[in-house]
Amino acid sequence: MQIINARLRHSNDLHTLTIKEGKFHSIETQAEALPEQNDQINAHGNLVCAPFVEPHIHLDAALTAGEPEWNQSGTLFEGIERWRQRKPMLNEADIRKRALSTIELLVQNGVQAIRTHADTTDPSLIGIRTLCALRDELKDKIDLQVVAFPQDGMLSYPNGLALMEESLQIGADVVGGIPHFEYTRELGEKSVKTLLELARKYDCLVDVHCDEIDDPNSRFLEFLACEALFHDMGPRVTASHTTAMHSYDNAYCSKLFRLLKNSKINFISCPTESIHLQGRFDTYPKRRGVTRVKELREANINVCLGQDSIFDPWYSLGNGKLLRTLDYAMHICQMMGYQDYARALDMITDNSAKTMCLEGYGIEVGNPANFIILEGFDDYSVLRKQGEVLLSVRKGEIIVERQPAKILSQPWVSNSL
Ligand code: FE2
Repeated sequence: MQIINARLRHSNDLHTLTIKEGKFHSIETQAEALPEQNDQINAHGNLVCAPFVEPHIHLDAALTAGEPEWNQSGTLFEGIERWRQRKPMLNEADIRKRALSTIELLVQNGVQAIRTHADTTDPSLIGIRTLCALRDELKDKIDLQVVAFPQDGMLSYPNGLALMEESLQIGADVVGGIPHFEYTRELGEKSVKTLLELARKYDCLVDVHCDEIDDPNSRFLEFLACEALFHDMGPRVTASHTTAMHSYDNAYCSKLFRLLKNSKINFISCPTESIHLQGRFDTYPKRRGVTRVKELREANINVCLGQDSIFDPWYSLGNGKLLRTLDYAMHICQMMGYQDYARALDMITDNSAKTMCLEGYGIEVGNPANFIILEGFDDYSVLRKQGEVLLSVRKGEIIVERQPAKILSQPWVSNSL
């Protein structure tokens, strides 16, 4: 397979990419645009980019909004209540069908790696079992990581710690947590300590729903970062949401950032979810409730974006399009300077891959030939156009193909704006 007239990120040149045996064999700069030969794929100057990565989604809950009741208040806590009502209806066929439909939607939109949470506060652990089995079944088609996530609290839920440990024995890849939802601050801190111990025992990554609340006094992030630093685990640890950081005092945040930088932990923000769920106890002015993505980026701390939900009790929209999530983040976090645009796609590609500790990710000779073609010629134009994923290739095989829209009536002047 050969791709011609490909634009790569951070380069104005056109390139030819040659793929052999499912890997990038060569990447060469072209002196000029080339005519298409047989069997070549013409990128027409569009951006060829590493695949999108979805680092935070709940496949066990996806596509269940309104079953049996809608989350009318829009709060995170009513979402947890609605999910508690839906849990008794879970079975393997139900989870599998919804998870596959959601994965298909993500793949159609250029995603080739997913980190999904699965609820461990369910004595049957059906979500963990089903999603771990699906991960193994789909291993050639998509990189799937399963997080053992204690939705109702690891230490506050009856037998929660044993269920967490059983989930890791079943084969979850990542230890999750929700310290701000534990009954007390002490239990929250103890849960963080315990989940890091479990990660060391089972050689797992860590991804904690951390301070997903508007309470400026919710400060489990500093505890998580400090534990990660002291145990030298930072690059394998992720803090998801951290929406309380939005409400932290600036002086405290300034002190906190030193620790965050030193700890080398990763961050995931889910801006569409957070702006919907947070600020619900405010009248006016209403907080945006999204963590400090702009400031984290400026401090060179690894931060990436996820969708969190697709049509579930917490968020009843969602369409699988990470470019939309990125667009929201740029607006909500006021990242609208040119320097913000220039590396925007990092937050749904490279940074997410780093968070998930993916190996062989990126367009480099020798790596698996996994890539997508996007409408636009650089990060800025792709973000602005919000176009479709034109092609998705995995290990040299085309898995998604689309034609760009064409206007059939004349006269129109073709332009590249
Ligand atoms: Fe989540």
